[in-house]
Amino acid sequence: MRETKPEAKATAVACANIAFIKYWGRVDSALNIPANGSVSMNLDSLTTTTTVLLDEALPGDALVINDVPTEGRALERVSRHLDAIRDVAGKRWRARVVSRNSFPMGAGMASSAAAYAALTVAAAGAFGLSLDTAQLSALARLGSGSACRSIPAGFVEWQQGHDHASSVAYSIAPPEHWALCDCIAVVAAGEKAVSSLQGHTMAHTSPLYPLRVRTTGPRVRDCREAILARDMVRLGEVTEVDNFMLHAIAMTSEPPIYYWSDETRRVLDAVLTWREQGLPVYLTLDAGPNVHCLCEQAHAEQVTQRLKALPGVLDVLVARPGAGAHLIDEHLIE
Ligand code: PMV
Repeated sequence: MRETKPEAKATAVACANIAFIKYWGRVDSALNIPANGSVSMNLDSLTTTTTVLLDEALPGDALVINDVPTEGRALERVSRHLDAIRDVAGKRWRARVVSRNSFPMGAGMASSAAAYAALTVAAAGAFGLSLDTAQLSALARLGSGSACRSIPAGFVEWQQGHDHASSVAYSIAPPEHWALCDCIAVVAAGEKAVSSLQGHTMAHTSPLYPLRVRTTGPRVRDCREAILARDMVRLGEVTEVDNFMLHAIAMTSEPPIYYWSDETRRVLDAVLTWREQGLPVYLTLDAGPNVHCLCEQAHAEQVTQRLKALPGVLDVLVARPGAGAHLIDEHLIE
């Protein structure tokens, strides 16, 4: 570890990610150890850039997101995460954190994965910690489970593991392995009604939950093999099954969580119809109403144009496999 001066600063960029096999439910809610492994792809056009400036004189941590000074629960959560990194560094210095998203504000795409991956790498950099990808992934997981998958590059698997050190993500294949596209139909702006944190906590109240947990291992393997073989049909099929299982669990939790809107349904119907007509496009949803439409580069333009023409689609964001979280030299704080 190099000697760190208080006032050191570092800036990191991290991508959001879309899970093909999803994380839903935990065996350890303090450490965010998931009930099952998961597989995702980093999204190159959906990034968060974060600068962490250590400042001994600060009375507490300070947070600015997209130019807006932010307090309350968001700041508390960031401070808790910084505490975990301060523990590793063995230093108590407070931090100014300034963060900016590349994707449009209010598009309902707020991504805790990109945010906590960027914060982890920037804070570790500011404290002068030299951590490897697995150690950074484990730390990012503490901030938001799925953030551990935004640390490695490209196509990523999060191994369930059994403790802090072993529940980490690694890269299955680099971004250039496969020109896969995620065309995201944005149908709703703003915050989601039920956070994924609440969803993880309630998952075990669904009678379908044990079945999903039991059957995820083979889907993770199937998904990994489909990615390595660049097999769109196999990847699409396993992704859709896992997606609908997650939403079935959400809908049968107590109380039920229903993430879809009328517009979501309209996009789902359209995508399934296009596929019947021969267009190889598959869908998945996170804990929200926006629809991620997966296809190969050759079909991305057609999928994007068709999505844009659907009533209720506010915007279409197109993302390709993205890099891992990394430090950069341009800072958001002078
Ligand atoms: O990392 P969290 O707590 O925001 O959970 C992410 C949950 C899903 O996006 C629905 C699935 C996933 O694996 O990304």
